[in-house]
Amino acid sequence: MEHLLGIKQLEVSDIMSILRRAQEIQGDLAVKKLDTLSGKTVVTLFFENSTRTRMSFELAAKYGGAIVANFDAGLSSITKGETIIDTAKVIDSMCVDCIVIRHSVAGTPELLSKHVECSVINAGDGLNEHPTQSLLDMYTIWRRKGGFNGLKVAIVGDVAHSRVARSNIWALTMLGAEVSVGGPPTMLPPGLERYGVKVFGTTHEAILDSDIVYNLRVQTERLTDCLYPSDKEYAAYFGINENRLKLAKPDCMVMHPMPYNRGVELTSSIIDGDKSVMLEQVNNGIAVRLAVLEKLTTERM
Ligand code: CP
Repeated sequence: MEHLLGIKQLEVSDIMSILRRAQEIQGDLAVKKLDTLSGKTVVTLFFENSTRTRMSFELAAKYGGAIVANFDAGLSSITKGETIIDTAKVIDSMCVDCIVIRHSVAGTPELLSKHVECSVINAGDGLNEHPTQSLLDMYTIWRRKGGFNGLKVAIVGDVAHSRVARSNIWALTMLGAEVSVGGPPTMLPPGLERYGVKVFGTTHEAILDSDIVYNLRVQTERLTDCLYPSDKEYAAYFGINENRLKLAKPDCMVMHPMPYNRGVELTSSIIDGDKSVMLEQVNNGIAVRLAVLEKLTTERM
């Protein structure tokens, strides 16, 4: 594999090899000093804010023994008019093995991958994909539930603005899970059924009898129109609370890519409750991203 631009480009075997390698890495990660990335250089190039993804890539690369440099868009020569392609080519010419990029414009990672020699990892591009979030989610499900076949997964909330939803729909349907999608009708893109998912205009119908309730953040920064009356009404009609969660299976697990809006799409009692695996998702992200970095920097084809 040369680049990781989206889940759509992957086969089941690619996903499972990353998950299996992440499991091995997690066993070794206690020492925080693997040398599988020794001699490699990773640059993070984030044009959108991030806490988890950027930190997770940086720490994963460092735990693997790589040299890491972080690019600060606001302090860079992009502010003087340098194009993003020229910027990427400059970074590429500094003996870099991998660029990890987040950008608000869908397709930017793919565009850069055509202009650089090094590997490119998509860390989230507009409304398109967030493949490493999806891989760490798949890893969390696989470790907790033992597999994907027949697993009922409900993806609920602001689906229209979620690149995580897109990546997870590709991954889960490819791996054999039954996926339901639900949320306010104004936040559901038309035609989702063609991806092999069931679509509901409510969250309570979508989560009925599910093994996993995967919540999405209301992406206020991407809303150009008023798609729901108020946070209070969103919470009342679409949020996941203790009562609504009783519709899912008793041993269901609650996931979220984070950050969340406490009290809007989820109550604090759910976020901090015993069905929540959100911090476990974050923790798993280190091993999964290290596995991805290893795959790209050592198996380039
Ligand atoms: N889940 C996720 O992508 O979080 P960040 O925006 O903090 O990276």
